[in-house]
Amino acid sequence: MNKPIRIALTKGRLEKDTIALFERIGYDCTAVREKGRKLILPITDGNLEVVLAKANDVITYVEHGVCDIGVVGKDTIMEMQGKYFELCDLGFGRCRFALATKKGDKFFGGYDVKTIASKYPNVARSFFESKGMDVEIVKIEGSVELAPLLELSDGIVDIVETGTTLKENGLEVIEDIAPISARLIVNTVSMKLRQKEIQQLLSLIEANI
Ligand code: PRP
Repeated sequence: MNKPIRIALTKGRLEKDTIALFERIGYDCTAVREKGRKLILPITDGNLEVVLAKANDVITYVEHGVCDIGVVGKDTIMEMQGKYFELCDLGFGRCRFALATKKGDKFFGGYDVKTIASKYPNVARSFFESKGMDVEIVKIEGSVELAPLLELSDGIVDIVETGTTLKENGLEVIEDIAPISARLIVNTVSMKLRQKEIQQLLSLIEANI
């Protein structure tokens, strides 16, 4: 048998949905479900090897070719970009990028340069560039909703899923930026060298989304 196809999965929210997808295909994911602290896990009947990683690292591993395939959110793809193929929309992990402010704040109009807090500075920058608006962007790592509450920023560019975090903190969406969902990405060299196996896996995934 060929060496396994190595697939990097984003830990956390997308992990469960990806495992559920593999189980619908019929793969035995016991080793992934009962992983403990292990980070590289086999799915032997699919000849796959699963690596669990943070979203940004999924892209890094796939770009460098140490993983053939990755499952990562469109949010991370938009923020990091990079050289790999984005093959399909997996349909789960649906949410959106949005611009939000404190409820009732007037954001657009006026001549003062606004400050925007975001975990996604590149996404925020290109959104405001597309509007021809000059803004100052502050990168925040944790709960970005805090920034307008602490008066560090006039608004935030962040992921909104249910809207609960915004609502519970007195914030509201003033403009949607882009829809987000989980995507399958593939290393460019793997796509050439292991095309048949990757196409086979892709067909199984597409039939089970
Ligand atoms: C994301 C995002 C919001 C929240 C939105 O954070 O940054 O804070 O989810 O979800 P909601 O609309 O359903 O309330 P996440 O929970 O991924 O945590 P993080 O701050 O560690 O990125």
